[in-house]
Formats: sequence, C-alpha cells, structure tokens
Amino acid sequence: SGRKFYVGGNWKMNGSHKSIDEIVSFLNAGPLDPNTEVVVSPPALYVEYARKKLDAKIAVAAQNCYKVASGAFTGDISADMIKDCGATWVILGHSERRNVFGESDALIGEKTKYALGAGIGVIACVGEKLEEREANKTTEVVFKQMESIIANVSDWSKVVIAYEPVWAIGTGKVATPDQAQEVHDQLRKWMAQKVSADVASKVRIIYGGSVSAGNCKELGQKPDIDGFLVGGAS
Ligand code: G3H
Repeated sequence: SGRKFYVGGNWKMNGSHKSIDEIVSFLNAGPLDPNTEVVVSPPALYVEYARKKLDAKIAVAAQNCYKVASGAFTGDISADMIKDCGATWVILGHSERRNVFGESDALIGEKTKYALGAGIGVIACVGEKLEEREANKTTEVVFKQMESIIANVSDWSKVVIAYEPVWAIGTGKVATPDQAQEVHDQLRKWMAQKVSADVASKVRIIYGGSVSAGNCKELGQKPDIDGFLVGGAS
C-alpha cells in the first residue's frame, strides 16, 4: 500500500514509574520492525518521563489535550505542553473521552485543529457502539464523527485515523479481520469522496479494540488495516 504500518500503545490511566521502566526496557531492547512506526501513549503525568527514557525511534503520544495553548482550564493540558515535553502525537476522540467524559464531535474537531496547528500529530479515533452496529448504523456514525475531523484538517500527513468499535474495546471481543476491513475500506472510500483520492490512499487507518499478539497478524494482513491502537495488550 505504501503506507507505513503504525502501532500505538494506549496505556490509558495505568502505570507507574516502575511499570513504565519495565515496558521501556523491553521496547528499547527490541528488536523493532524498522518498517513499523511505534508510538506509546502514557498518562500525561508520565509523558516526559517516558520520552526521556525511550529510544528516539519510539514516539510518544499524549492521550488527550485541550483546544487552546494555555489558560484557566484546571486539570487540562495543551498541545504546546505536549510538544514542550518532547512528545509528537496526541490521541483525540478516543471512545472513553467521548463516552465517559462526554466530548462532542465539535470539541474533538476543535482540538484536532489546534493540535495540528501547534505541530503535534493526531491519532483521531472513531467508532460505533454495539447498538449502533446492530441497527446497521456503523457507517452513519463513523462518517458523522469523521465530518468534524476532516473539517479541521488541512495537512493530512500528521493524522492517523483509528477505527475503534466501542463494543471491541477492552472486551476481548475483537472485530473479525473482515469486519474491520469492511469499515476501513468504507472509511477510505469516504475519504476519497470527501477529501481527495490522494489523501485517502495515503492516510493510515489503524484498528483498535481487543488487539493482541494472537490476533494482530491476521488483522494486519487486510489491505486497509494499516496498524493498531492497542490498549490492554500494550
Ligand atoms: O486505544 C485503545 C483501545 O481503546 C483498545 O483497547 O486493546 O484494551 O481493547 P483494548
């Protein structure tokens, strides 16, 4: 496909200096596939710590950030701070941000625009809930989520799309390779129509939701699956 495989580890709200030391030693020792971009995403408090310990070939992503540089936004962090601490990516629109913290499509769009403008790459997440899939609304839901993202991106080289069906996240119920491929293909075709054929052919669309060492190989062989966003197994 010409798209470099991209694997992100989203540690969510887990870890400590001790556990991060262990994961960092493991990753630094490698070997890592030079044809795969590897990114880890620690909780914000540990972003700088992980960045300083990890080899330069491993990138660091924050798990979220707000839509402005600074100000009276107690408890939040900015893309500028992420950059200042040496990280190069941020995950935005994760289903836990959407569904636990009530973030809207519009807010995720604004955050995307700000982060890209600040020079941080964005892993933009979309995905349907089980009842939406069962009601045959998967594409309607993910396309609507995508609308707010595409409206806020001009340079697609710093964006990775993560398709993460909510019913597969943390459940052990991984999407089958065919289920994931079907949505990735639909997303890519939609991107070709709504953005451009060039962007659609180049943008990485990665899959997340109960990815493990056991199931990743088969998923990764699908033509439109360009990597993974891994929670528990990372
Ligand atoms: O960002 C990662 C996803 O939420 C997947 O999490 O691998 O624990 O299912 P999981």
